[in-house]
Amino acid sequence: MAPRRIAVLTGGGDAPGLNAVLRAVVKTAAGSLGWEVLGVADGFEGLFRRDGVMPMTLPTVRGILPRGGTVLGAASRGNPFGRKVMKDGKETVIDAIDEVAAKVRALRVDALICIGGDGTLQDARRLMALGCPIVGVPKTIDNDLAGTERTFGFDTAVATATDALDKLHTTAESHHRVMVLEVMGRNAGFIALHAGMAGGADMVLIPEIPFRWEALAAAVKRREAQGSKFSIAVVAEGAFPADGQPTVRVAGDALKGAKLGGIGNQMAARLEALTGLESRCTVLGHLQRGGSPTAYDRVLATRYGASAVRLVEAGKTGHLAALRGGEVVGIPLDDAAVRTRTADPAGEMVRTARGLGISFGDA
Ligand code: F6P
Repeated sequence: MAPRRIAVLTGGGDAPGLNAVLRAVVKTAAGSLGWEVLGVADGFEGLFRRDGVMPMTLPTVRGILPRGGTVLGAASRGNPFGRKVMKDGKETVIDAIDEVAAKVRALRVDALICIGGDGTLQDARRLMALGCPIVGVPKTIDNDLAGTERTFGFDTAVATATDALDKLHTTAESHHRVMVLEVMGRNAGFIALHAGMAGGADMVLIPEIPFRWEALAAAVKRREAQGSKFSIAVVAEGAFPADGQPTVRVAGDALKGAKLGGIGNQMAARLEALTGLESRCTVLGHLQRGGSPTAYDRVLATRYGASAVRLVEAGKTGHLAALRGGEVVGIPLDDAAVRTRTADPAGEMVRTARGLGISFGDA
């Protein structure tokens, strides 16, 4: 069979393991199969630049397995196809999807491997509908992609948040304080739930279970009555009170999506007022996306990259490499696969946490 030509890009926010996927794609496609591999810089942005598409060979991926970030660069925007243009003397944003599709077709590749979360993969589906050959790889620290049991990047983010909780215990215990850790995750509580369990949190607040301030204060008071003069809380950035809304840090516009954040500081202030215990908040932020991927994420990312190449080899463009029943397989890149999912509020993880005495602030 004639050697193929493929391109690869990393879209959306960075996540630990992106480089491991790129390495696996290049080692499998260029190294083992003798294919030509092109890398597109900065998500879809590189398609618009003269120097934005470059050959990827074995030397370009040497030593990148343990490195965070992406050697290709990433771009996270609400609409990566949005372009500012002047219309009737006014600056307006147009959707340049046809132009992007034409640029993908002009690459004359057998497949464009798009590594991204729900946003990038929905965008990739739009390109697919315009005749572009796409294979998807599921990435996000949020673990909120419906088609796969696990996205790469999540395990590393949870490990970082767990380490932070271990460290916050020190000050909480020594100073008899309530320490609140705000973690990422958008509208899904997976990072908070997993890190909260691994880090021994007393309260876990997730978007899937709206909370009440009084119930949280009661949980702190209960612990105090039992002799524990400190409490540890982990709050997902998208968590919100039953009578309120998620806290938005930066409002979105025609180009950029909205950014969540701020609930952790609100929580520390409210708990201090309600309980009289000194309370502090730490916002973990992009530390969750940085650094070297865990061994689990390196392995998962490597399997996804190799699987994406095998899908191209089998002529299965229009598919997503996904973890199903512990195996990485190809599933159709349809709307159901790239939709977001959230944690099950009645699921085993939440029930286990409740059994351990963790408060979700709803009772
Ligand atoms: O989707 C990954 C994520 O890190 C979310 O958890 C978070 O809400 C968002 O991206 C932050 O985006 P940015 O890096 O653009 O601020």
